[in-house]
Amino acid sequence: MHIRPEQSTDIEQIRKVNTAAFPTDAEANLVDSLRSAGIKLISLVAEENNQIIGHILFSPVTIEPESKIKLIGLAPMAVLPDRQRQGIGTQLVNEGLKVCTQAGYEAVVVLGHPDYYPRFGFEPSTNFGIQSEYNVPAGVFMVKELQPGVLSTVSGTVKYHPLFNDAW
Ligand SMILES: CC(C)(COP(=O)(O)OP(=O)(O)OC[C@H]1O[C@@H](n2cnc3c(N)ncnc32)[C@H](O)[C@@H]1OP(=O)(O)O)[C@@H](O)C(=O)NCCC(=O)NCCS
Repeated sequence: MHIRPEQSTDIEQIRKVNTAAFPTDAEANLVDSLRSAGIKLISLVAEENNQIIGHILFSPVTIEPESKIKLIGLAPMAVLPDRQRQGIGTQLVNEGLKVCTQAGYEAVVVLGHPDYYPRFGFEPSTNFGIQSEYNVPAGVFMVKELQPGVLSTVSGTVKYHPLFNDAW
């Protein structure tokens, strides 16, 4: 199994991974919409024997009031159901964080399970005075600095691309 950037020939299989992992095709549609909108994405796949078994997507987010910080959001990520809990998601996140850092992003946000993401260094965004635009329980919206200390002077509300609001 190895992790590599998405290629155009992967699109159909990425869709299959997302529809298999999530209860509806909302996430698969969102991935396709973001790609079609020409947004600069970081999209990685886990491939094994020429089959895509996992996918992770990062897309740029902004913060209001405006800040110069370069922020990106992790969403969605998916691993084929019969390949979950085998460490594939962990490898996708770790490689994704590395690629985001190389691309110049300074911090990553994620709206996700509070038992899962802290192992990668994510912590509640409220530790930094950063909020989600969505009405979610404390601890579910998390952030990780890629450049230590970068969030010490930042506060505000994180905004995802409007396509996220259309997805559900
Ligand atoms: C979340 C997901 C991507 C993790 O990938 P994975 O390859 O299973 O993850 P790993 O094997 O690296 O890590 C396993 C750990 O993740 C956690 N985990 C996995 N799925 C989880 C879930 N649905 N809810 C909460 N925690 C979960 C568990 O703590 C597990 O640890 P354990 O096996 O010691 O209990 C995968 O389970 C998945 O596709 N789930 C459905 C889609 C989804 O919910 N995506 C995340 C939201 S965008």
